[in-house]
Amino acid sequence: MSKFKNLIEKLNNKTALIGIIGLGYVGLPLMLRYVQAGYKVLGLDIDPEKPLKLHNGETYIKHIPADAIAEARCGFEATTDFNRVKQADALILCVPTPLNDHREPDLRFVLNTINSLLPHLRIGQIVSLESTTYPGTTDEELLPRIESTGLKIGRDLALVFSPEREDPGNPSFTTQTIPKVVGGVTIDCLEAGQALYGKVIDKVVSVSSTRVAEMTKLLENIHRAVNIGLVNEMKIVADRMGIDIHEVIRAAATKPFGFVPYYPGPGLGGHWIPIDPFYLTWKAREYGINTRFIELAGEVNSNMPSWVVSKVANALNDRCKSVKGSKILVLGIAYKKNIDDMRESPAVELMKLLQEKGAHVDYSDPFLPRFPKMREYNFDLISVPITPEGITCYDCLLIATNHDEFDYGLIQQHAQLIVDTRGVFHEPLANVVKA
Ligand SMILES: NC(=O)c1ccc[n+]([C@@H]2O[C@H](COP(=O)([O-])OP(=O)(O)OC[C@H]3O[C@@H](n4cnc5c(N)ncnc54)[C@H](O)[C@@H]3O)[C@@H](O)[C@H]2O)c1
Repeated sequence: MSKFKNLIEKLNNKTALIGIIGLGYVGLPLMLRYVQAGYKVLGLDIDPEKPLKLHNGETYIKHIPADAIAEARCGFEATTDFNRVKQADALILCVPTPLNDHREPDLRFVLNTINSLLPHLRIGQIVSLESTTYPGTTDEELLPRIESTGLKIGRDLALVFSPEREDPGNPSFTTQTIPKVVGGVTIDCLEAGQALYGKVIDKVVSVSSTRVAEMTKLLENIHRAVNIGLVNEMKIVADRMGIDIHEVIRAAATKPFGFVPYYPGPGLGGHWIPIDPFYLTWKAREYGINTRFIELAGEVNSNMPSWVVSKVANALNDRCKSVKGSKILVLGIAYKKNIDDMRESPAVELMKLLQEKGAHVDYSDPFLPRFPKMREYNFDLISVPITPEGITCYDCLLIATNHDEFDYGLIQQHAQLIVDTRGVFHEPLANVVKA
């Protein structure tokens, strides 16, 4: 019989209190899903603004409407008070896992969270780590810390790893419909993990260990990063040959088997694709292995902003202009279309490179009315509205992110020059340069 019989029963009959730690892009939708499924949720975050906003029924993530939060209001409590942790039956960690200045894993957030939980852990709880990380994090970093309290994993407390697969802004999949991989430290831990997610996610995929679950997430993201690197390299070759890579991809994608389309762009963005592969690279070094595909894809992808800027410079040159002194409007600064998240966005790198070359750079992004404060960059800018007169006065419009809200017909009609990094315009046009 399972060591976690009571916990599993509470999870199955939805009387368990679900604690979610880190109420960001991953934690907030997960909290709403648990409430929707009929659980009571305790949301914890170190940022006091988040609980405040949530209690007022307000949102701080554009693609999660305030209505959804107001609707869930009776089902959750959000707080910064970690003393409440002992009341929760489940503790799901959704905190950031960035890289440090040496591009190595920065587990500070995960370890700080675990350290804040330690004094409040008790028998009969389950801890699930969802943050993307290298294989071994759960059993090398979390397990010994938890066991230092005297609680034994697999006997007193269940510990699992279950990677988040959120795709913000993707209308085709929700937290509920994206299958969830779970690996436990022991079989009993896994069983508790299956119960934790079984009533909120349509399909739970069990794997044999936390390390397999950790590696699964990395494989998914590395697969993406490497294929985007490949297609970005193909784009440069195709461009030199006068071939439109987007037309090639559209044609190749008609093959009903053996081909998956990936799309080139101005560089990689987001909180994970540019970052997560290096979690594996770092860990692989401990085993004496160089991850050459990952490094190569990283190199190709991180060169894309410079390549795009050279395309802008050439296009201006063809019009007897230089980058220096030109007015350039960057369209879309979020890292991908139709969302307001600009972490690691290549648009920022483009703006920086263009500014360094002496361009006057503005931006327009319906999702980001003011350029957010960032650690490495400081652009004191507000989003420029798209109007026919406004567009005409720019020497170049650079499409970095192809939000659906942009009126591309109007843009094309009035722009002097457009550099299109997203394949928005299919047909050749006199004022459009593909990059
Ligand atoms: N954003 C995505 O779409 C996505 C998709 C898949 C996986 N992931 C992974 O999920 C994890 C979380 O990402 P995110 O995008 O939700 O991050 P986020 O920055 O949006 O949210 C993290 C939240 O954690 C809070 N936090 C930080 N330290 C804390 C602590 N010690 N205690 C409590 N709260 C703390 C922050 O205040 C913030 O609200 C990362 O590992 C990421 O790689 C993210």
